[in-house]
Amino acid sequence: MLAAVTLLLLHILPTHGHSPAHNHDHIARHALPGAWFQPSDHAVRALFARDDFPAVGSDAWVASLPPFTPDGSHTPDITKLPQAWVDAYNAAKAAGNIPDIPPSTTGGQYPNNLDPKSTTICSSFIGCRAPEDHFNVPDGTLALNFDDGPTEFTGQLLDFLKTNNEIATHFVIGYSIQQNVSAWELLLASGHDLAAHTWSHQQLTTQTDMEVVSELGWSMNIIYLSTGGRVPRFWRPPTGDADNRVRAIAKYVFGMEMVVWNQDTEDWSLTETPPPTTTAVIAGQMNTWLNGPKSPGLMILEHELSNLSLAAFMAAYPLMKSAGWNTQSAARLINTDGAYRNAPGPTGTVTAAGLLDFKGVGPSDTTNSTGNTGSSGSSSVVNSSVVKPTGSVSGGTKPA
Ligand SMILES: *[C@@H]1O[C@H](CO)[C@@H](O)[C@H](O)[C@H]1NC(C)=O
Ligand SMILES: *[C@@H]1O[C@H](CO)[C@@H](O)[C@H](O)[C@H]1NC(C)=O
Ligand SMILES: *[C@@H]1O[C@H](CO)[C@@H](O)[C@H](O)[C@H]1NC(C)=O
Ligand SMILES: *[C@@H]1O[C@H](CO)[C@@H](O)[C@H](O)[C@H]1NC(C)=O
Ligand SMILES: [Zn+2]
Repeated sequence: MLAAVTLLLLHILPTHGHSPAHNHDHIARHALPGAWFQPSDHAVRALFARDDFPAVGSDAWVASLPPFTPDGSHTPDITKLPQAWVDAYNAAKAAGNIPDIPPSTTGGQYPNNLDPKSTTICSSFIGCRAPEDHFNVPDGTLALNFDDGPTEFTGQLLDFLKTNNEIATHFVIGYSIQQNVSAWELLLASGHDLAAHTWSHQQLTTQTDMEVVSELGWSMNIIYLSTGGRVPRFWRPPTGDADNRVRAIAKYVFGMEMVVWNQDTEDWSLTETPPPTTTAVIAGQMNTWLNGPKSPGLMILEHELSNLSLAAFMAAYPLMKSAGWNTQSAARLINTDGAYRNAPGPTGTVTAAGLLDFKGVGPSDTTNSTGNTGSSGSSSVVNSSVVKPTGSVSGGTKPA
């Protein structure tokens, strides 16, 4: 019943790794928050401050990211994080904003029999929804959203959406961008909305605080770096796995809002052997949901992982329209200000206040309004040279 689990993750999950099931009946429904809680001068802007944007795929772009490891661990080295992120984390921790919840052993399971449903932990892996989580969209609307891109199927998906005059939100994986930079270029050129889905698709509750900082920071950074400085507003946890510790790091260090979903077809699993679901089962679910009540709106978890997952979406699309759903990009339904904190959208001006105003200024100098992010010690500029690529890109996947 759970969301996307990449092939990578399947290797480390037990065979029953898809349980415990979401129990949608027990999920409290919350209205969409009117506004996010971060002030407009949140330090997230300083965390990514730079005014040089090397061409996507160029050597300078590659050198600004964790080294690509085609055969090794996809997880960035946490000893090479930009100092500004570490400082922002330390400040948030010192301010008491990051709760002391131990890493889970796997999604929804904690040491010492800690209760994942408790308000202290609130594991989204088992369906606990915190008031600030986005999972519903307005009545009558259907959120277009695709996880785990870019992939070799992204081009096909973009063609389909363009034909139908649709824009979607893509929750992208940093490592997947490195694997197929030309698919990323198609996404960038498409005018679609981009949101973070971590660097290497780990279950974040199993990770240490600094690993969570790394997974979120690098995936935000690759979007920032590739879009002329757009700071993404939204992120989605791989396999839906977050808890209050992970939520807090996303919120207080990076100013990001968490997006989950309210229906799940498990389309990611269609290529499994044997598949936990089938195209026919998904068609039946789509029929039920699309012909069902329009309140709340639908945010169905979708993936651009395989041509089967795309086919399931494309097969349902005519009914989305004929049943009268107002289809829109998820980011634009969740917040009318859209996918980015400092720009009106994929086009349009990146506001100077979100970028150049903070050039050369670290978090401690930029936010004294909340007290959440001020750091008492020295603060550092994000400096891409902090990360020294140790390996060369190889394997025929060198970006164009
Ligand atoms: C990269 O993605 C593009 C667009 O989806 C696709 O056409 C291409 O085959 C992919 N390349 C590889 C090596 O998978
Ligand atoms: C798409 O899926 C079908 C199975 O339905 C498979 O036969 C075909 O090779 C796939 N095409 C691509 C481009 O992967
Ligand atoms: C902090 O806030 C005070 C009061 O608003 C302001 O006068 C001061 O300049 C601010 N300091 C920094 C470093 O922004
Ligand atoms: C970034 O690091 C390089 C190499 O250490 C240094 O020469 C440069 O001045 C730094 N840039 C900033 C803005 O600190
Ligand atoms: Zn995913």
